[in-house]
Amino acid sequence: MIRSMPDTSTSPLRNALLTQIAGALMAFSLVWLARPFLALPLFHIAVLQGVFAAVVSWRFGAPRWWWLIHLLFMPLVVVALAMQIAPGWYLLAFALTLLVFWRTDRSRVPLYLSNADTAAAVAKLLPEQACEFLDLGCGDGLLLRRLAALRPDCRLTGIEHAPAPWLLARLRNLGRPNVAIRYGDLWQQDLGRFDVVYAFLSPVPMPALAEKARAEMESGKLLISNSFPLPDTEAAQLIKVADRRQTRLFCYKIGLRTTPKPRN
Ligand SMILES: C[S@@+](CC[C@H](N)C(=O)[O-])C[C@H]1O[C@@H](n2cnc3c(N)ncnc32)[C@H](O)[C@@H]1O
Repeated sequence: MIRSMPDTSTSPLRNALLTQIAGALMAFSLVWLARPFLALPLFHIAVLQGVFAAVVSWRFGAPRWWWLIHLLFMPLVVVALAMQIAPGWYLLAFALTLLVFWRTDRSRVPLYLSNADTAAAVAKLLPEQACEFLDLGCGDGLLLRRLAALRPDCRLTGIEHAPAPWLLARLRNLGRPNVAIRYGDLWQQDLGRFDVVYAFLSPVPMPALAEKARAEMESGKLLISNSFPLPDTEAAQLIKVADRRQTRLFCYKIGLRTTPKPRN
């Protein structure tokens, strides 16, 4: 079994912290230089810091949603402090966020869920005979429940590392003998016995997933990736689901047509 991990060496949290510090240094420098002429209230300084941090984020090529986070972060901190909210509420919010999303900063895979149309499309891709199916990062387990209803002859396994979705997946699939939900890290899960592996992750771990699938899955088995293609690899089939988000399912026959595409 290969224990390959996605390359997450550039931590988004570290980048965010550095961007906030850069914004603060710029804002305080400007306020210091302007102090003979005007004295800004704290909230205005926070807004200035937010603008600088957003500009730094933009200049360093961060995705657009980070610009907004940097713009609003410090002004919201000032507003929250003024509201004198008890510290316990922050702790509670942090704990709940952690339970639902776990270490998204490390995995670089957020929680979003496959819809019913996608589950129906995935069911059509399963072999006619009973098979072993794995959902890598099974979230709340709804995809597995839907598949279990459509294909009671198949054995469906999900693995999930975020505590709250894992618990929900367990509860949701209680009493379904053909569904097993495991708590754990998908990168430690051996793919060897599965006929079909399904992944709905993000662009970041796709190179590692390609390597893992090639090393562990048997030749001819099916890897389905929702939305994110494997790098440099030709899909055997591309399914366009007729849903609102226009989901695309990239289907790879491991060892057959998953040879790396020639680079130009
Ligand atoms: C985009 S969601 C997909 C959920 C589900 N497969 C579906 O299609 O509805 C990705 C899930 O993978 C989980 N995940 C991310 N990295 C993981 C890891 N290293 N081990 C286990 N689960 C992981 C996340 O917590 C999240 O629930």
